[in-house]
Order: sequence, then structure tokens, then C-alpha cells
Amino acid sequence: MLKDKVAIVTGASRGIGRAIALKMAACGAKVVVSARSTEALESLVNEICQKGGEALSVPSDISSSADVERLFDAAVEAFGRVDILVNNAGITRDNLLVRMKDADWDAVLDTNLKGAFLCSRAAAKIMSKQRVGRMINISSVVGEMGNAGQANYCASKAGLIGLTKSVARELSKRNVTVNAVTPGFIVTEMTEGLNDKVKENLLEQIPLGRFGEADDIVSAVLFLASDQAAYITGQVLGVNGGMYM
Ligand SMILES: NC(=O)c1ccc[n+]([C@@H]2O[C@H](COP(=O)([O-])OP(=O)(O)OC[C@H]3O[C@@H](n4cnc5c(N)ncnc54)[C@H](O)[C@@H]3O)[C@@H](O)[C@H]2O)c1
Repeated sequence: MLKDKVAIVTGASRGIGRAIALKMAACGAKVVVSARSTEALESLVNEICQKGGEALSVPSDISSSADVERLFDAAVEAFGRVDILVNNAGITRDNLLVRMKDADWDAVLDTNLKGAFLCSRAAAKIMSKQRVGRMINISSVVGEMGNAGQANYCASKAGLIGLTKSVARELSKRNVTVNAVTPGFIVTEMTEGLNDKVKENLLEQIPLGRFGEADDIVSAVLFLASDQAAYITGQVLGVNGGMYM
């Protein structure tokens, strides 16, 4: 399905990003995986290679433009092109607005939104020349509906939707599609710290009656990265069990 495509997946050391990288490699893509944790990335690359795939680990902080430049240079040097970018890296620093520290606002916006901007800009230069490419931004259902205690996170994820649509318009003439996926509540290390009461409340809001799995997001990302999605750009695909319609 993705034979000989080159994909960069940010935040691939664990959770949704790791699952996306593994599946893309299994579908034939050469995968460049990035995150801050060197060890976790190395073990992911080993797993991909053991299964007969190809992967390169480039530990980087995507909120740093120097790191992002290094990431894209390494991808092009190793594999010669970049066909797919998955802007997946993200963090939370939750608090009520009146208690939210400047540093918590900045950290979340810098990683979730500026990081995606830096990676999109780097990818745009390469994909425009290739006259083909796919960008997929992992936003969130709360970027669409808001969430008390997550003003910074929701602002970053709503911003990512605006970034998606603007970049989709800019790059459409170059045959580069740009779409967002908005996961609902997905079981990963990011969400496992929530207390049982919060989880119970969340479950009541999900019409399909279950939390999502990383694989639910992987399927949507894989579709948007594939040739089957060639005529889809600037869209926001909700994968949330019906939590937001
Ligand atoms: N889990 C959910 O319920 C859920 C819901 C909606 C959206 N999302 C989004 O999906 C994405 C993945 O979420 P997850 O649950 O797998 O999270 P996670 O916390 O398990 O993984 C996040 C990944 O991002 C990386 N990362 C964080 N800051 C980084 C930085 N500055 N530079 C490079 N890498 C960095 C981490 O190293 C890690 O690999 C995130 O963008 C998250 O906001 C998750």
C-alpha cells in the first residue's frame, strides 16, 4: 500500500505515533521516526527492521527549528525524498485557566502547534519540488469542542486545524494534500493518568460506548496517506466514537 514511500512520523517513541510508524513500515514505507527519547526510538527501529522493514531514528525536539532541519536533512540523505509527514508529537499541561502558568501555555503551543508548523514548512519545500506529498496532522476532538482545564491544549489543537486548511490551500497546486485527524479519547500513556471518575464521565459522552485504541487512529492516518485519498484535502476526520458530531 505504501511501497517505497518515505514517511516521517513525529512523536513516534510511544502511543499513537509508534503504532502509526509500525503500520506504515508494515505497509512498505521507509519510516523516519522522531521523538525526544533516543532509547525508545532505537527499539522501535529494531522492531521494524526485524520484521523486514526499513527505518531511521532521528531523536529531535520538534519545537526547535534547528532540530527539525536536522530531521528533514537526515530523511532526505537516507532515503532521497519525503512523501508523507505525520505531525503527531504532542503534550498536555492541563490546568484551569486562572491557574495556568505562562510556561505551561508556551510548552504546549510550542510542541503541538509550532512544532507542526516547523515540520510542515520543511516538508512543504521538499514535497512542492516532488509535486506529490501527504501531510496528516493529529489534532484532537477537544480542538473542535473545547475542554475545561485544557485551554492551552485545545487552542493548540484548534490552531492545528487552521494550519491544516491553510497549508492545504497553499499546496494544492503542487499535488500535496493536507488533512487533520481528530482523535477522541484514545488509550495511551498520555491518557492513562486520568482518574477513574474523569474516565467514567468521558465514557458517558461516547455514543459507541468505548474508548478508542491507537489502531483506530492508525486506520484513518493510513487511509489519508494512501492513493485512495488523493482527492481529499483540507479535511478534518473525526475518529472519536461519535463523541463530537
Ligand atoms: N491519547 C489520546 O486520547 C489523544 C486524543 C486526541 C489527540 N491525541 C494526540 O495524538 C498525539 C499522540 O498522542 P499519544 O496519546 O500517543 O501521546 P503520548 O504522550 O503517548 O506520545 C507523545 C509522543 O510525542 C513525543 N513528543 C512530545 N513532545 C515532543 C517534542 N517536543 N519533540 C518531539 N517529540 C515530542 C513524545 O516523545 C511521544 O513520542 C498527540 O498529538 C496527542 O495530542 C491523543
